[in-house]
Amino acid sequence: MSGTTTPMLPAQVSIVVPILNERDNVGILVDRLRALLDGLAWEIVFVDDDSKDGTGGVLRELARQDPRVRGLRRVGRRGLSSACIEGVLATSAPYVVIMDGDLQHDETILPRMVAALRGGADLVVGSRYTGSGGVGDWDARRAWMSRFATRLSAMVNKCNLSDPMSGFFGFTRELFDEALPRLSGLGFKLLLDMCSSVDRKLTVVEEPYGFRSRAHGESKLDSLVAWEFLMLLADKSFGRVIPARFLAFMLVGGSGVFVHMAALWTLLAVADLSFAAAQTGASFVAMTSNFALNNALTYRDRRLTGRRLVLGLLSFYAVCSAGTVANVGAASYLFGTAQQSWWLSGFAGVVIGSVWNYAMTSIFTWR
Ligand code: GDD
Ligand code: MN
Repeated sequence: MSGTTTPMLPAQVSIVVPILNERDNVGILVDRLRALLDGLAWEIVFVDDDSKDGTGGVLRELARQDPRVRGLRRVGRRGLSSACIEGVLATSAPYVVIMDGDLQHDETILPRMVAALRGGADLVVGSRYTGSGGVGDWDARRAWMSRFATRLSAMVNKCNLSDPMSGFFGFTRELFDEALPRLSGLGFKLLLDMCSSVDRKLTVVEEPYGFRSRAHGESKLDSLVAWEFLMLLADKSFGRVIPARFLAFMLVGGSGVFVHMAALWTLLAVADLSFAAAQTGASFVAMTSNFALNNALTYRDRRLTGRRLVLGLLSFYAVCSAGTVANVGAASYLFGTAQQSWWLSGFAGVVIGSVWNYAMTSIFTWR
């Protein structure tokens, strides 16, 4: 074993590293950190969302060689922020640093980050937008998107950081525990999530660094990162009144109305079905479309695949059918027995049906 400095002492510093398909990067990262952190009681906690490229095997091998390297494997889950949160929960070190596992974060600033935390900072942020920091070889589009997101984030960010979008930052356990009850865990911006979850004024230190380009593997942040980011902003802004997920579910439901009408028209005009048959068919088309969109957007972090996708669709049909019965029943009661206006009765029916669908699919479909 190399560099066995105090392996038996409880870790003072835990480096939490979210990873997904980073087979060729993790070993290099461990070697570099081992050399850099020599003299500290450290540990690395990799949080792997069940990578399909053999990362898990590489991790086990690394952990066998050095007990300071640990691997946490999550199955059937996805999400950068929630992976980091679970990594932090799995350590008891007083200082934690989150960093990417793809070598894009410049690890040489780590000793300074740890020193800042030990010196009394609540939060230390690796920043690309201060001092000698930079974004490396990003194209104009990505650089623009990052700056735009930084502007938008000012809505919820109370920390006044030069780089609130950074995925490279450290904090004390006290700060994390303080933020924990209010963390959304949505998307990939844990720093922003943490900063907007505490009310007191934090002592923050920024460490400039240059974002490196990727040598192995590829970025996991796809075209839907913008959507995830909006979900986080919504949840941070008014999530305590209306959960962002419920809002997303409602948006998808709204889109279903248009899908339904288009399908109804097609089945009547093109397929020449009877009205009842066309209305039934259109309902199934709309439910299927709602299911697909909710799976891709609302429940992105728990999205179903393979056999569970088919079972999920069936349970979605069942829940929504019962939701329609509840909707019609409540609306008819209000309109008939309680003598309310048609629009109030109709609207109340829709609200009751939607809440039912949301609550029940969160239990039975995306549990
Ligand atoms: N466990 C887990 N689950 N890890 C993930 C997931 C996930 O769903 N998605 C990505 N990762 C891991 C990657 O394997 C990598 O180690 C790290 O998270 C960053 O992901 P990348 O896919 O490389 O992201 P990026 O380089 O495009 O984005 C980086 O820069 C952004 C700032 O512009 C990240 O550092 C972001 O956090 C950061 O906000
Ligand atoms: Mn990366």
